[in-house]
Amino acid sequence: MNAVIEQMLAHRSIRRFTDEPVEEAHVAAAIEAGQMASTSASIQSYCIIRIRSVERRNRLIELTGNQTKVARCGAFFVVCGDTRRHRLLAERADETYDARFEAFLLAIVDATLFAQNVVLAFESLGYGACYIGGLRNDLPQVQELLGFPHGVYPLFGLCIGHPDQDPMRRPRLPLEQVLFEEQWPEDEAMLAAMDEYDQVVADYYQAREGGSPDATTPRRDWNSQMIEKFIAPRRVSVAPYYRQQGASLD
Ligand SMILES: Cc1cc2nc3c(=O)[nH]c(=O)nc-3n(C[C@H](O)[C@H](O)[C@H](O)COP(=O)(O)O)c2cc1C
Repeated sequence: MNAVIEQMLAHRSIRRFTDEPVEEAHVAAAIEAGQMASTSASIQSYCIIRIRSVERRNRLIELTGNQTKVARCGAFFVVCGDTRRHRLLAERADETYDARFEAFLLAIVDATLFAQNVVLAFESLGYGACYIGGLRNDLPQVQELLGFPHGVYPLFGLCIGHPDQDPMRRPRLPLEQVLFEEQWPEDEAMLAAMDEYDQVVADYYQAREGGSPDATTPRRDWNSQMIEKFIAPRRVSVAPYYRQQGASLD
């Protein structure tokens, strides 16, 4: 359709990288491009912290659930929601700072829009990217390692580097399960459509892993993965950690 859409449609997470470094000029260009993402009332409540220290990155492998790519990618970043600079301004002006849940939410939304623009910019330069939600596995330990000040909320890591693999694209829900006209469809229609998608995902896993599953290989699909994912609370230290950093649910 056009080069931008083709680039977006070609996305797949890259989890193995060559040793080739990420050019500094490319880092600056991608982050400046990311900054041009829309931002709620221009508050720009995010920052991105590059972690270069080998010791810290090695420790982050453990803290993210043994994700070696965190230390093996050309450049590793932590994307944060950041309300601190607004509070600093208020305090310097001797004004009240009373930001509640809306401010925290805006920080998450702004940071995420920014990050995806950064990723797209890097991908357009030929790099591969992988977000690291595993950063939230143990935020208190990550805090001890990286020392974020109050008002800064680490949301996810970001690995960038030259791809050393060429994985298949992972299928997404069909358009009609995401784009609705006027209102959400009937639950029954949604469930039937998800069963179709489930088969698409099962076929993807089979193609990715090469060949037909034998009797001992459990069928991997989407429906059961989603059930499994939300069967019990996960990362329960996340909420108290963000609260301690200044987030409010009020
Ligand atoms: C916020 C976020 C966190 C993620 N965390 C991880 C992670 O910790 N490790 C990982 O290997 N992939 C991670 N991913 C990548 C997703 O697994 C991946 O985007 C998804 O399976 C779709 O595959 P694709 O990006 O190749 O199309 C994350 C993605 C997002 C958006």
